[in-house]
Amino acid sequence: MGTVAGRRSTAFFEASGMWGFIRRAFTKGMGFSQSDLGRPLIGVCNTFSELNKCHSHFRELAEAVKRGVWQAGGLPLEFPTISLGEPFVQPTTMLYRNLMAMDTEEMLRAHPLDGVVLLGGCDKTIPAQLMAAATVDIPAIQVTGGPMLDGDFRGERLGACTDCYRLTQEHAAGTLSGEELQGAEDGMCRSAGHCMVMGTASTMGALAEALGMMLPGTSSIPAPDSRRLQACEESGRRIVAMVAEDLRPSRILTPAAFDNAIRVLMALGGSPNAVIHLVAIAGRLGIRLPVARFDALSRETPWLCNVRPSGAHQMETYHRAGGTAALIATMLPLLNGSALTCTGRPLAEAYVDAGVRVPDVIADLDHPLHAEGGLAVLTGNLCPDGAIIKQTAATPALLRHRGRARVLRGLVHGEAVAPDDARPEDVLVLTGAGPVGAPGMPEVGQIPLPQALLRAGVRDMVRVSDARLSGTSYGTLVAHVAPEGAVGGPIGLVRDGDEIELDVPARHLELRVDARELQRRACEQAGPRPLAPRGYARLYQEHVLQADRGCDLDFLLPGGAGR
Ligand code: FES
Repeated sequence: MGTVAGRRSTAFFEASGMWGFIRRAFTKGMGFSQSDLGRPLIGVCNTFSELNKCHSHFRELAEAVKRGVWQAGGLPLEFPTISLGEPFVQPTTMLYRNLMAMDTEEMLRAHPLDGVVLLGGCDKTIPAQLMAAATVDIPAIQVTGGPMLDGDFRGERLGACTDCYRLTQEHAAGTLSGEELQGAEDGMCRSAGHCMVMGTASTMGALAEALGMMLPGTSSIPAPDSRRLQACEESGRRIVAMVAEDLRPSRILTPAAFDNAIRVLMALGGSPNAVIHLVAIAGRLGIRLPVARFDALSRETPWLCNVRPSGAHQMETYHRAGGTAALIATMLPLLNGSALTCTGRPLAEAYVDAGVRVPDVIADLDHPLHAEGGLAVLTGNLCPDGAIIKQTAATPALLRHRGRARVLRGLVHGEAVAPDDARPEDVLVLTGAGPVGAPGMPEVGQIPLPQALLRAGVRDMVRVSDARLSGTSYGTLVAHVAPEGAVGGPIGLVRDGDEIELDVPARHLELRVDARELQRRACEQAGPRPLAPRGYARLYQEHVLQADRGCDLDFLLPGGAGR
């Protein structure tokens, strides 16, 4: 973005004639003085919304950011964009991640901002903001809302939404009464902030740090902790310096930074959604991240974080144990330490002073929790363009499994419904729930088990889908199967009774059906795919890329060269 004297706002405010007069007059109309117009103009992108519980404290965070901007000599102006709260948006926030990225991108481009502080938190908001910042390429720093305090029920520590699945499952199994379930509901969300396990929001916060787009050690601070406000203030001060240094996302978000983020994702045992989001952010810079790269780095990056849903602890304990700063410091021998961060220093320097690490929560490289990373990428004739499994949250005995397919086609009232007569050794296959098919690829891959099996004590089965998973999901869940059934992917050709073989150590997922038979089925069901009649959903279905390409819209990639 071109500037006069290095700043976009200078050109804006110092313009001659009527437009310069109007711009200055209208800014002064908000109470700012002539000298304020000479300060770097910093946008504070505030995604506060009462429709997004995870961002309910953002007004206070924005004030702290603005304090920091003023302290450093900038002029902070706050503006809103779309906000996406996971439990509130129907049919799924993923449908709107790209819309939020477009909204943010256009606001950054349309206004004379010299830099921006991005306030995000809930799952899709951080990737949407980073996609926008990468595209517009003005100095940008990410601030997140931080995780909620631990939930509390009868002295038991609860985590959203890992325990939302577990408790409702126990209720369905008859082991938890309605009254008890309500008691858990009352104590689940004790503060503002995002989900307090290593779900997608916590993962994406950590990855924003690993990418270098967020101040060291700030992503894991609990939402109500006063140190989060201090971090906001510091981020406000830092963005003013970044403008002076012309430190743009394109200098930070390099292939080395993405490799660092992938390795941190694997060490976290983090959310599978992060694969899609990292591919999408990189795509905005013309960097192609094949899913095979995730698997290659997973094989040589140990799982270190003993945090739910893969491990035992929650974000509050994780932060007290050193948090993401300690994790990155521990991992430095595996990371590219020369990658530049928003601090202006390379990663190795920025994290050299990271605090104390508690080994029970964050293991060291010599004593990992698992030799490989949390996620594995599968290939095979059922998923020619890949599929993801969080191996650290799966049942070890099911990581190698052969079973009879029970097929679920699409969703019933937005949910996947397993057949009542499914057997524990069956493989539940959900198709029609991908980016185009659903549309928006909802988080329905953790297909609820049939009640009869729950009552019989079964708690996990192999489940395969072209949907996504919540980052808080657990179980033997294969998701992101690409291509999806709705665009002709083999997962749409599976029939009840077909044999499916899963072999995670071999990274293999196979539909054991003859190729000619699959061809016959493909011809039988060929036809135009149903599309939404109008609006954004129609635009999305016509342009969305598959999971292995980050589910971005093809025309949003550099040059619009998506497909
Ligand atoms: Fe917002 Fe989980 S619902 S992070």
